[in-house]
Amino acid sequence: MMRVGVLASGSGSNFSALVGALNQPASAARVEVLICNVPGAKVLQRAAEAGVEAVLLDHRSMPSREQYDEAVAQALIDRRIELVCLAGYMRLVSPAFLRRFPGKVINIHPALLPAFPGLHGVRQALESGVRVAGCTVHFVDEGTDTGPIIAQAAVPVLPADDEASLAARIQKEEHRLYPAVVRALARGAVTLEGRKVRLEEPL
Ligand code: GAR
Repeated sequence: MMRVGVLASGSGSNFSALVGALNQPASAARVEVLICNVPGAKVLQRAAEAGVEAVLLDHRSMPSREQYDEAVAQALIDRRIELVCLAGYMRLVSPAFLRRFPGKVINIHPALLPAFPGLHGVRQALESGVRVAGCTVHFVDEGTDTGPIIAQAAVPVLPADDEASLAARIQKEEHRLYPAVVRALARGAVTLEGRKVRLEEPL
């Protein structure tokens, strides 16, 4: 069983989707801990309700990004976490953090990368006039949303869409795609060849 840690800053709907799909008997992967950097974030309440351990590490209480990331890494290592899922974690992770978990940090982003990286992926898609939007699960590298792509899901952009309606359509796909990718990783069905990810079986 693969021990998963989730890092999140906000609402936590992806955290809940991961827990709902993975924290079941005989699952190949299980969410063992939530690490949150924002006091009062809704995801903390979700963790309490789901009975998942939550660790609040407020980045503002740490003198530097490196020290903050070191505290996060230590909390994950203490719990023998094998896969780190960023889920609405609104911070860049440092190269030193990534070196502690090589090939073991993944992220979900609300756009079809490499289009619309960074903040406000949904708003960027709407403003650009694309007809198809979606989400991407990718390995995290040192850039902003630039790591090797594992899986994507597309949704239409409809004429009446605003940011909220499009974001909701994308999130529905996120909640399906993210647990499917974690399961595939836990089964060893995902391999990285340079920048290309090979899936041994369909998600
Ligand atoms: C998700 O839609 C995720 O794709 C996005 O934040 C949202 C978090 O929602 N992530 C990014 O924009 C990362 N650049 P949630 O807290 O309800 O899971």
